[in-house]
Amino acid sequence: MNLSIKNLFFKHTDVKTFFITRLSENRVEEKVFLKKDDLLIDITGTHSMICLDPFCVAVWLPKDKMNGFDKKKARVQFKKNTQTTAELNIGLIEAIPTDNGALLLYKIESVINHQLNILHRLALFAWLLRSKKNTYESRKVISALYSYPRKIIIVSYSDEHYYNIFPMDIQGYIAEEDMYILGLRTTNITLNKILEAKKVVISDTDAIDINTIYNLGKHSSTSPTKMEEMPFAVNRSELFGFPVPGFAGSYKEVEIIDHRKMGYHMLLVGKVVNLKVLRKDSTSLYHVGFLQFQESNYQSIDGLY
Ligand SMILES: Cc1cc2nc3c(=O)[nH]c(=O)nc-3n(C[C@H](O)[C@H](O)[C@H](O)COP(=O)(O)O)c2cc1C
Repeated sequence: MNLSIKNLFFKHTDVKTFFITRLSENRVEEKVFLKKDDLLIDITGTHSMICLDPFCVAVWLPKDKMNGFDKKKARVQFKKNTQTTAELNIGLIEAIPTDNGALLLYKIESVINHQLNILHRLALFAWLLRSKKNTYESRKVISALYSYPRKIIIVSYSDEHYYNIFPMDIQGYIAEEDMYILGLRTTNITLNKILEAKKVVISDTDAIDINTIYNLGKHSSTSPTKMEEMPFAVNRSELFGFPVPGFAGSYKEVEIIDHRKMGYHMLLVGKVVNLKVLRKDSTSLYHVGFLQFQESNYQSIDGLY
């Protein structure tokens, strides 16, 4: 049954939640907008996923855009060229003032997917991606959220007794505030250490394969692999002396200035205190939702992940 449905709708591709591709930032084709009545604000570079249960996003707006509309309810639109590929209806949880504007924390209330057609989407969400670990509705929300490629970063922390290096994709960088946003599982024991030290280092995934990244994610934070057993060199960051994987093309040293428990993930808000570029034009690995990948020109990076 599965095979016939797959061959009927998606004959020439593997069916999975995400595809992985390698991109430089300026090669990302999609855009994200905040829509309210006739107002349309480009939030491509100023929004981020922050929690997956409940589904929450953060949107940063500059002061001059703060007073133009009632922010309690709004819509996020994912677009490629002029086509709207997915939409999220969102409700305001909190507005955190920042130096040049505000960070709006929103809960996702409903989702509309537009890629391909209703039969393809039904076959995908109701049948081919079904799993006991998630719901039909959550599969639709994840598909919408990953209708914008999500960069995979490497987060590291260390102190005298402990260190950890692990991947994340619930993340965003707000250049207008030199601010970094992270959504870290509340089960990750590194979280409390990061909150105590108020420090973290964020490296890109420039020169590394996806399997190594996924293996890093498999190590529970309770027993990270010994640094000398890592399959790549590990250097030290300039200011904090935290571990920087040798494959990174650049890294940021970030001071944590705020945090909020959103649910399954803790929102961490940080200020970049040092940016180090080790290689020019570095690229990163990205997660792209299955439906958006079908309509993109991106190259898939195969892996055993
Ligand atoms: C590609 C990738 C992206 C990930 N993104 C996140 C993330 O955004 N937030 C998070 O808390 N964990 C993320 N993880 C899982 C962490 O890397 C890590 O495994 C986990 O936090 C370990 O914590 P645990 O000790 O609670 O299992 C990701 C894993 C992979 C492989």
